[in-house]
Amino acid sequence: MKKNIAVIKGDGIGPEIVNEALKVLHVIEKKYNHTFQLTEVLAGGAAIDATGNCLPQESIDQLLASDSVLLGAVGGPKYDSQPPENRPEKALLRIRSTLGLFANMRPAKLYPQLREASPLKDELVDEGIDFVVVRELTGGIYFGKHETWTENGQETAQDIMKYSTAEIRRIAKVAFDTAMVRRKHVTCVDKANVLDTSKLWRRTVREMAKDYPEVTLDFMYVDNAAMQICRKPSQFDVILTENMFGDILSDEASMITGTIGTIPSSSLGETSRGMYEPIHGSAPDIAGQDIADPLGTILSVGMMLKYSFGLEQEAEDIDRAVNAVLNAGYRTPDMMSEGMKKVSCHQMGDLVATEI
Ligand code: NAI
Ligand code: MG
Repeated sequence: MKKNIAVIKGDGIGPEIVNEALKVLHVIEKKYNHTFQLTEVLAGGAAIDATGNCLPQESIDQLLASDSVLLGAVGGPKYDSQPPENRPEKALLRIRSTLGLFANMRPAKLYPQLREASPLKDELVDEGIDFVVVRELTGGIYFGKHETWTENGQETAQDIMKYSTAEIRRIAKVAFDTAMVRRKHVTCVDKANVLDTSKLWRRTVREMAKDYPEVTLDFMYVDNAAMQICRKPSQFDVILTENMFGDILSDEASMITGTIGTIPSSSLGETSRGMYEPIHGSAPDIAGQDIADPLGTILSVGMMLKYSFGLEQEAEDIDRAVNAVLNAGYRTPDMMSEGMKKVSCHQMGDLVATEI
């Protein structure tokens, strides 16, 4: 298979963790005889340094010409003085909307080897934590009308939450399709006791469920879901939800699995082109020290192989290698605990690559 991959190394620890992920990608390429052509794309702080613009047109063209995008992380205190429209994070929002990436998938999976890192009680951890939050990414309250005005002498503001059936259908399809290759269970999270948008979500999702007779569908109010994620995370397989609820619940879900460093994510649209990135930021506090955890980025490469290129076995290889390295007791400092072997960022990359 031959693919063009756009690589945004980004800022802070971005280049360090992406280099390790590319190391792993190269090993997969060799082992399975694929050709992955890499194009390094400037976005975020690095683009501001080079061109003054957080997302130059050339970068947009390169991203649109790619089969998929790998991102480290962007941003850092150095760019705090940039005007809001030229901040590194703005580049990310623009990439998401330009590439039409409406589906954000964040797996919440606890590696049993890292159980001591989870704040949950052992009994709960033992039941297993392995679910995915499928979050709508380009609609809802974050993209509705925002306004502030004065009414009866009071400063007043409102933000509109808006969804169409088409927007709900396309994200629900992602959730159902994901469930079909997992444990065939979708939990649609909403606030249908109060919100009209949630009622529309329920009607639409219930209708679509008829096309997926094998999938069990249930509904949960978001406040209850927030509680259930800590009370009994093993009950979830796929959580389907709108933009803001998904933002909040996916952060909660990442926390119960232990370290932020090992969690990958993907953002997908109508085409097979996706953007894959670890869920953390550019960690300026540890940048340049070769101590960052590269596993979230390495596992993001695995998600790219599986979801954008359909390379299931290659993706499984990466997952298996990460498990083997953790089983052997190797840890970067963020996941270190007693009796384990401390390794650097690049050593962790070497270990996973060698395992493959
Ligand atoms: P952060 O995720 O960069 O760091 C939070 C804490 O987690 C820090 O103590 C950091 O050292 C640690 N950490 C993060 N990733 C790690 C890794 N791979 N290995 C070991 N430790 C790790 O969040 P923070 O500090 O709020 O943001 C820093 C910058 O990153 C900001 O400019 C922010 O806007 C940006 N950011 C970018 C994102 C992206 O590019 N997608 C996402 C989130 C934040
Ligand atoms: Mg968030």
